[in-house]
Amino acid sequence: MSRLLVCRPDYFQIDYEINPWMRRTNAVDPARAIGQWQALMDVLVHDVGAGLEQMRPVQGLPDMVFTANAGVVVGRRALVSRFRYPERQREEAYFERWFREQGYEVLTLDKNLYFEGAGDLLGFPDTWFGGYRQRSDIQAFPRLSEIFQREIIPLELIDTRFYHLDTCFCPLSGGEVLYFPSAFDSYGQAAIAQRLPEDRRLVVPEEEALRFACNAVCIGKQVVIPAACPRTTQLLESRGYRTYAVQLDEFMKSGGAAKCLTLALD
Ligand code: ARG
Repeated sequence: MSRLLVCRPDYFQIDYEINPWMRRTNAVDPARAIGQWQALMDVLVHDVGAGLEQMRPVQGLPDMVFTANAGVVVGRRALVSRFRYPERQREEAYFERWFREQGYEVLTLDKNLYFEGAGDLLGFPDTWFGGYRQRSDIQAFPRLSEIFQREIIPLELIDTRFYHLDTCFCPLSGGEVLYFPSAFDSYGQAAIAQRLPEDRRLVVPEEEALRFACNAVCIGKQVVIPAACPRTTQLLESRGYRTYAVQLDEFMKSGGAAKCLTLALD
């Protein structure tokens, strides 16, 4: 069973602006946000068969719902993130405590390196891809590669709307990737193409990338994807994936959707 770390959106709101999606004037509707989050959880548990681990939300840390940014977990080792913006740095201690309480061996990077967890590190069993420049530092990847003994291909994120790798790149269990090429520079696009032949690259159209089509959760042959992404849904279904659409527009006000709201624990 796939286990995911999640955190209820009890204190979720737009308190600050650290990416182009966030506008303090664009307030979250709390009841709607909780309803959307619960609907996502129901799909993950009842349709996809995932197991959930919940951590307690903290008042004053509105972005803690985005557990993808807690760190990276491999086996019993958890490497805790170091956030670029002070607004999110206070989350680090809570994520670290949760990992320790669950018995994970907790690892950290050097103090001067920013790294925002599974939001910027995704991949296939032996090759990983690391997004950098907007949030994580490229210098984090050689260290992560050494710790986890995986090859990491760094990809520069050039469009501020796609500030974490998981907003524009989603590896699928069958070895394909769902992605929005223009979020990467030509060198990054070439690096992706070198690793994944054309028939394994599923290109998401811009209007759906802007509805967070790439911020999907893939578990086995099932993909949970934000609502209103018909072309992406069709692409996935043509490859034999079963899709589940979930409305997550309250979370898009903060620059996140399905994938950001989960952290894979195995
Ligand atoms: N407001 C949050 C931030 O800007 C959203 C994080 C979304 N997380 C993700 N993995 N893409 O940090």
